[in-house]
Amino acid sequence: MPQSGQKTIIAPSLLSADLLNLQTEIDLITKAGADWLHLDIMDGHFVPNLTFGPEFVRQIKKISQLPIDVHLMISPADAFIDAFAKAGASYITIHPEADFHPHRTLQKIKSHGVKAGIALSPGTPIETVYPLLEIIDLILIMTVNPGFSGQKFIAHPLEKLKALRKLIDTHKYPILLEVDGGVDKTTAKEITCAGADVLVTGQYVFSKDMPVSSDVYKSRIEDLRKQ
Ligand code: DX5
Ligand code: ZN
Repeated sequence: MPQSGQKTIIAPSLLSADLLNLQTEIDLITKAGADWLHLDIMDGHFVPNLTFGPEFVRQIKKISQLPIDVHLMISPADAFIDAFAKAGASYITIHPEADFHPHRTLQKIKSHGVKAGIALSPGTPIETVYPLLEIIDLILIMTVNPGFSGQKFIAHPLEKLKALRKLIDTHKYPILLEVDGGVDKTTAKEITCAGADVLVTGQYVFSKDMPVSSDVYKSRIEDLRKQ
């Protein structure tokens, strides 16, 4: 379960939105109850896909009040922290493999007053996060390999999620646990029960299998929150 008494935070990934109608998509998903906007930043080097840069974040910040959750899948991440922080990110999450000195990169994020996160890919061991617990605000547990939306959910990272839930609750670390990849109506319950505070959702919430409206998005978001 998430931190006691908290409702699950839903963070739709704009990678799966209709990018040519992005303002409408953001308006609809906000009205539908989304809590954060998740932005997947990919560089064609750390991951085999290319997406958005800091200017995209800056433009979204101009039209939305929601916290912007920037997931950097770029290497090195260090060189772009200032730009994404100035663009208006609320959270910036890095992958530990992307920088020689992830702790320094996290310090840089915090120096801007931005919340700092570390992402654990399915093949990244839980121990990677231990030396960083004092500095981070969020751990993003990936249940797909980073790079694309719409991939099949990988269940074994939920073991890391359960162990981190226990550790964080025991030591009362002010750290949110976020899950990203293949989150849908069928996987959400297991993920929430394993201790997630935040669910990222791409293809499931933005699916165009029926005409889009805030009611359709709302019922999908509510399905994810149901336990
Ligand atoms: C994958 C991204 C995810 C992805 C989620 O690298 O980090 O945020 O867009 O999309 P779904 O929910 O479709 O797996
Ligand atoms: Zn992501």
